[in-house]
Amino acid sequence: MKKIRVLLGKRSYDILIGRGLIDECGRIIKGLKIGTDAVVITNSRVAALYKKALERTLKKSGFTVRFELIADSERAKSLSTAGKILERISRYDVNRRIFIIALGGGVVGDLAGFVASVYKRGIPYVQIPTTLLAQVDSSIGGKAAVDLSVAKNLVGSFYQPRAVISDVSAIGTLSSRQIRNGLAEIIKYGVIRDASLFAYLENNYKRILALDGGALEHIVHRSGKIKAGIVARDEFDRESVRAVLNYGHTIGHAVEAGAGYSGRYNHGEAVALGMVAAGRIAAALGLIKEPDAGRVEKLIKNIGLPVLIKGVSASKIYDAHLHDKKFSGGKNRFVLATKIGSVKIVDGVAGSIILDALKSCIKR
Ligand SMILES: NC(=O)c1ccc[n+]([C@@H]2O[C@H](COP(=O)([O-])OP(=O)(O)OC[C@H]3O[C@@H](n4cnc5c(N)ncnc54)[C@H](O)[C@@H]3O)[C@@H](O)[C@H]2O)c1
Ligand SMILES: [Zn+2]
Repeated sequence: MKKIRVLLGKRSYDILIGRGLIDECGRIIKGLKIGTDAVVITNSRVAALYKKALERTLKKSGFTVRFELIADSERAKSLSTAGKILERISRYDVNRRIFIIALGGGVVGDLAGFVASVYKRGIPYVQIPTTLLAQVDSSIGGKAAVDLSVAKNLVGSFYQPRAVISDVSAIGTLSSRQIRNGLAEIIKYGVIRDASLFAYLENNYKRILALDGGALEHIVHRSGKIKAGIVARDEFDRESVRAVLNYGHTIGHAVEAGAGYSGRYNHGEAVALGMVAAGRIAAALGLIKEPDAGRVEKLIKNIGLPVLIKGVSASKIYDAHLHDKKFSGGKNRFVLATKIGSVKIVDGVAGSIILDALKSCIKR
């Protein structure tokens, strides 16, 4: 088992990464001393796979356990689902010491964190992320949120878990598309901060795709360390430190929006395309040398993520990028790589450079 300490003063906590950790949760959570009555928020797909094991270990350690199931969809990240769960928790919460467990991917984690942050102005919660994306990204950093109809994650809070327990064995039941979804974020960590993680991915992507436990543990650990380090320096996303996590996301979000959120591209696939486009923008600006930009594209391709955009036009993506919520004062903002392992924030990139880069990424 590997351990990362997320250093946030009184709100510090550990991320535990290992194989078979779901079976150890009772003992681990007991050690946190956060309550006696667990409310586990999950969905039916994840429950079918891991409910029994989690219930067994929690009961063995003396906890009472109640499961709250939400729909298996981004649509469950809503105020109405949060409201229903809060109502049920409040009726159940008589003479109890309740805490929340999020068992699932990022949807479950974001919603459960939100519920924990507002119930009685905050009760303890633990993340047990079961997707690769949730293990390396959404479970770390304390951003909890639900969506509104105009935009995702519009209502939320910064609310840190008491622990993150990442069982890499759970990756084994994910679809390969979901695994690649998480790998896009891991490539991102390599490009922004860690040339050796990037090289590890280049040399071991076949082992990773074959679900080798040691390789998964390694990349989840390295990624978690990078995100935890960034979060520790900018817990509330105010210092432009967290901004580097947006690498590949400016164009990535625009690809998702340009495709009308049709599901043509999932988040990781859109981010992969965003990283390719960012590489071409950086090359056009003379920030990165071709061989490094080429390595990023080659790795994305080897992992089976897209490098060329199909079915969405360059001008649609360009128009969508103009509506990015993160741009201020009408100026665009890009995170661009200068070499593998290091990035720079560039404001006000010329529209023609962006559009040319996008055109070069369209599959003909
Ligand atoms: N809070 C943050 O900082 C942050 C960061 C990134 C993403 N997010 C959010 O995360 C969400 C996306 O998360 P996601 O990619 O994990 O998607 P998800 O939660 O929808 O999970 C993807 C699918 O995998 C299933 N699943 C989960 N674990 C499984 C397992 N072990 N085996 C088989 N199937 C399993 C789920 O039921 C779902 O169908 C979005 O809502 C996004 O906004 C939040
Ligand atoms: Zn992302």
